[in-house]
Amino acid sequence: MAILPIVTVPDPLLKKVSKPVDKVDDKLRKFMDNMLETMYDAPGIGLAAVQVGKLLRILVIDIAPDDEDPNPQYFINPEITWTSEDLATYNEGCLSIPEQYADIERPAECKVTYLDYNGDAQEIHATELLATCIQHEMDHLNGVVFIDYLSKIKRSMYVRKVKKFIKDGAEEKKE
Ligand code: NI
Repeated sequence: MAILPIVTVPDPLLKKVSKPVDKVDDKLRKFMDNMLETMYDAPGIGLAAVQVGKLLRILVIDIAPDDEDPNPQYFINPEITWTSEDLATYNEGCLSIPEQYADIERPAECKVTYLDYNGDAQEIHATELLATCIQHEMDHLNGVVFIDYLSKIKRSMYVRKVKKFIKDGAEEKKE
């Protein structure tokens, strides 16, 4: 397995719409293994393929608490088929917007159809953190990140902070 470089804002790639996967094969599974490894290493609870530079409709998610066994979930070509009228707010973060967080309101529950790691069709009814996480990651597939829900002023402040965070990190490595 390999750790892949993570794309961060304001990279224009993050604004692109990802394409459906047409075949779930060993090559794709290897890529998904690498996505998962990259997400665990970051560490994060969700990652979309575009965040590691591939415009494919794939998500990996693991919301298991730290003191429980890992529970990786793979979503290929996910489609939201239903969302609840009830909303929920979570303080969201994103590996493409490191160290920045904001309260984002979304439907509290959703139903999603997708292909799993083996390419088999699945459907789930997601609630709580999983519902939020799936919707956040699915936004990535459509070129949307959570700061797009904020005001223009806040958004540019977040992007500035990320640029500084990346620059400071690069300077630390040089020393
Ligand atoms: Ni994200």
